[in-house]
Amino acid sequence: MKLPFTKKPAPHAIVPLSPRDASALARLHVEDFSRPWSVHEFETLLSQPVNFGFKAQAPSVRIPDGFVLARLAAGEAEILTVAVARAARGRGLGRLLMDGVLRTLHAQRAEALFLEVDETNVPALALYRRLSFREVGRREGYYQGKAGAKTGALVMRRDLR
Ligand SMILES: CC(C)(COP(=O)(O)OP(=O)(O)OC[C@H]1O[C@@H](n2cnc3c(N)ncnc32)[C@H](O)[C@@H]1OP(=O)(O)O)[C@@H](O)C(=O)NCCC(=O)NCCS
Repeated sequence: MKLPFTKKPAPHAIVPLSPRDASALARLHVEDFSRPWSVHEFETLLSQPVNFGFKAQAPSVRIPDGFVLARLAAGEAEILTVAVARAARGRGLGRLLMDGVLRTLHAQRAEALFLEVDETNVPALALYRRLSFREVGRREGYYQGKAGAKTGALVMRRDLR
């Protein structure tokens, strides 16, 4: 079901990530993931040349409202993680962040972008389907749900050529 979003579009800039963003990203990540990544893990990921990403930065606010981190190697790319702060959701930021990744990958002439998503994650599935990702695999019982039950992971692919 599509939500009747009433919020105004966000006035954010989509800015490339650097290792200096690590602590802000760790703060956003802990809101949503059962195994949050530490500041050190983000620093390490962001200092590796294969990884890149973007943050959604509102004017005059230090902490970004969302970010996406991706990896590109040998022509194939993967979304490592994407998150938008709860208060900023439903205003198109997830879409803008993913568009930033797709533009970069087109410029690099990458062939395909992959990701894994919990099959019960309705907002994320809506975002990915909107961006023409299609399901190419499923991993049974891959995620540990908050209520204790395991849920499956969908592997999705978006062709870039
Ligand atoms: C998934 C997530 C990044 C989406 O960010 P967002 O900024 O709210 O998404 P957008 O506003 O750009 O919406 C993108 C599309 O998804 C749809 N959508 C977003 N949230 C939705 C929801 N709760 N239910 C149904 N559709 C939804 C929107 O309608 C929009 O489609 P449209 O362009 O056809 O209108 C955000 O919900 C989030 O951070 N979730 C927690 C972290 C997470 O689950 N990350 C993904 C891990 S794989």
